[in-house]
Amino acid sequence: GAVGKDGYRHYMEKELHEHPLVIGQTLQRMVDPATRKVVLPPLPCDLATIPRGVITACGSAYYAGMIGRYWLEEIARLPIDIDVASELRYRNPPLTPGSLGMLISQSGETADTLAALRALKAIGLPVLSVLNAEHSTMARESDLVLGTVAGPEISVASTKAFTAQLTVLACLTIAMGRARGTLDEAGEDELVTALLDLPGKAAEVFSHQADIRKMAGIVAEARDVLYLGRGSAYPVAMEGALKLKEISYIHAEAYAAGEMKHGPISLIDRTVPIVATIPSGPLFEKTLSNLQEAKARGGRLLAFTDEAGAERLSAIAEHTIALPEVHPFVTPVIQTIGVQILAYETALLKGTDVDQPRNLAKSVTVE
Ligand code: AGP
Repeated sequence: GAVGKDGYRHYMEKELHEHPLVIGQTLQRMVDPATRKVVLPPLPCDLATIPRGVITACGSAYYAGMIGRYWLEEIARLPIDIDVASELRYRNPPLTPGSLGMLISQSGETADTLAALRALKAIGLPVLSVLNAEHSTMARESDLVLGTVAGPEISVASTKAFTAQLTVLACLTIAMGRARGTLDEAGEDELVTALLDLPGKAAEVFSHQADIRKMAGIVAEARDVLYLGRGSAYPVAMEGALKLKEISYIHAEAYAAGEMKHGPISLIDRTVPIVATIPSGPLFEKTLSNLQEAKARGGRLLAFTDEAGAERLSAIAEHTIALPEVHPFVTPVIQTIGVQILAYETALLKGTDVDQPRNLAKSVTVE
C-alpha cells in the first residue's frame, strides 16, 4: 500500500521522527517485558563457544555493523572481522571454521550483501541476518533473521532503519554477553535499562532541531566537511558524513579523531567545518584534546555532545548540541539522530531533492 508523508515535507523528515517508535517496536520484539531479558529465537550456533564473528554489509548498514563490532568485542568478548560486502565477497579471507556470519541490510536485496551471504554459506558458516525486509531474498537464504521493526523506509537516505539495526545489534550483544559469561545479571539489567530508556531520549533529540538548523547554516556554506569521533562515535561520524554527501552533495569525510594528526589536520582552516561526535564517557577527554588541536589550527567546531559534556564543548565550539544524556553503551543511537538531522537541515538549505538524491537508488540490486 502507499505510504504517505503524514504532513511532513519529505519522507526523510517523517522517517527521522519515527526513530523513537521503531526503536521501541524493535525492543518489544526482543525484550521480554516481564523478565526484562533479551530473548532470541533459536540460533544456528552456540553463542557460548563460537570463536569469532564476521560482519558484512554496505553503506549505512555497514556503519551499524561497525558499531556492533565495538559492542560485541567489548561487552561479549567476541572477536569480529568486519568488511564491506563488495570487498568480502572477492577477498576469500581465511575465516575461522565455526564462526558466525552476520549481515545487515534494510532491503534484504542489496546485490553485494547477498553475494557475501552466499559466499559465507558456501564455506559452511551459519548466517544470522539483521533485516528490515523480512520477506526478502536474504531472509530466505539466511539461517536466522533478526527483524528490525522499522516499517517501510521510502527515503533513499536511510534513517530509522539504522537505529533499528543498532537496537537489534545491542540486544544481540547482551544475549551474547550472557551466553559467554562476560555479562552478569546486574550488567544485563543495566544495559537493558539503557535500551528501554532510548525511545524517550530519542524523542527529546528533536527539541534541538532549531539549534541543529543553525549549525546547518555553516555546513551548507562549506565545500568540505570533516567529521570526527572515537570509539563507537567514529562510525556515527561516518554515518553523518555519508548522509551529508548523499543528500546535500557536500563533500564530507569521517576520521577517527586520533588519526587526524596523521594527515587530515593539514586540511584544517576556517573553510572546513569540523563536526564532532563526542558523547561524555570514557573517550570524552581524548576526543576533546583532538578537537582542541583542530581549534588551535583555526578549525570551526560544531559539536554533538550531551548535557554532561556541553559546558566543556561550549568553550571551544561555535555550536554545541547538548543531546539527552544516556548510558555510554547507547550514545551512538542518540548521536546518530543528531547527525542525520544535520544532513537533512543542510539539504533543505541547499534545496536538493532530499528523498531522491541524484544517481542513487534505494536498493542497489546490481553489483
Ligand atoms: C544509506 O543512506 C544508503 N542510501 C545506503 O548506503 C544503504 O545503507 C546501502 O545501500 C545498504 O542498503 P541495504 O541496507 O538495503 O542493504
